[in-house]
Amino acid sequence: MIYLTRIEHFNAAHRLYNEHWDEEKNISIFGKCANQNWHGHNYELHVTVKGKANPETGFIMNAKELSRLIKEKITDVLDHRNLNVDVPFLKGLQPSTEVLAKCIWQQLEPSIKECQLHCIKLIETHAIYVEYFGEE
Ligand code: NI
Repeated sequence: MIYLTRIEHFNAAHRLYNEHWDEEKNISIFGKCANQNWHGHNYELHVTVKGKANPETGFIMNAKELSRLIKEKITDVLDHRNLNVDVPFLKGLQPSTEVLAKCIWQQLEPSIKECQLHCIKLIETHAIYVEYFGEE
């Protein structure tokens, strides 16, 4: 089994808050991320697929096609957007890095045909990232 990773970037704004909680509780749980006028992140996205190398191409998947899919399904939808209000696939969800990684998986997975999606790694800051492997 061979693993191939494509790295992409996007910038987006969000706010973490729970509308059922008062301001004090939101601040105590989410800290600065609850700032009501939003804040931004420069996200780095690693999409890893796995499979066997095709003997004719040597590829498990054409990296150009993977890049095109990520652009069409993910970065064109998320880049320079407000994750709380602009993104149809995040509607009604808390736009945390964890939830975002899972949603990115769900958007990409059906389009990856010749091999398997293995991991969505989403880096929010230099100090924190999440990885999602498709498990519930
Ligand atoms: Ni944040």
